[in-house]
Amino acid sequence: MKSRFVFARALAPAAIVLATIVAAPVSAEPNMEKYGKSCAICHDMGVAGAPKAHDAAAWAPRLEKGTDALLASVKNGLNAMPPTGLCADCTDDEYKELITYMSSPK
Ligand code: HEC
Repeated sequence: MKSRFVFARALAPAAIVLATIVAAPVSAEPNMEKYGKSCAICHDMGVAGAPKAHDAAAWAPRLEKGTDALLASVKNGLNAMPPTGLCADCTDDEYKELITYMSSPK
């Protein structure tokens, strides 16, 4: 019992630090509602050769093109990806957030 108590006490500061990191608006949270209605349809499962969300290896060669090129691919469409990636009302910033979200490991 005593050792469990010590363990919990040792963990508490770490939990506080973690909670602070999660709460801080460090990285922009993508619009998950728009994500679910568009990008996720193909990128969650990797449909038709789409780079799978959070598969860093699949995204690495894409990221090398640079943000502007990737943004242009989504807006203009690329092979099996339709123009706008099915998110007609996404802003450029929202596209960029969604790309960052999908290309980052989970
Ligand atoms: C209908 C399916 C589909 C939807 C919906 C979709 N994508 Fe894609 N996406 C693809 C496919 C397939 C590829 C791979 C295209 C290729 O390289 O042939 C791709 C590739 C990409 C790439 C890499 C482009 C490049 O130049 O290499 C980005 C970035 C991307 N998608 C972002 C998005 C975003 C952001 C959304 C949501 C707003 C989205 N996609 C929605 C199918 C989709």
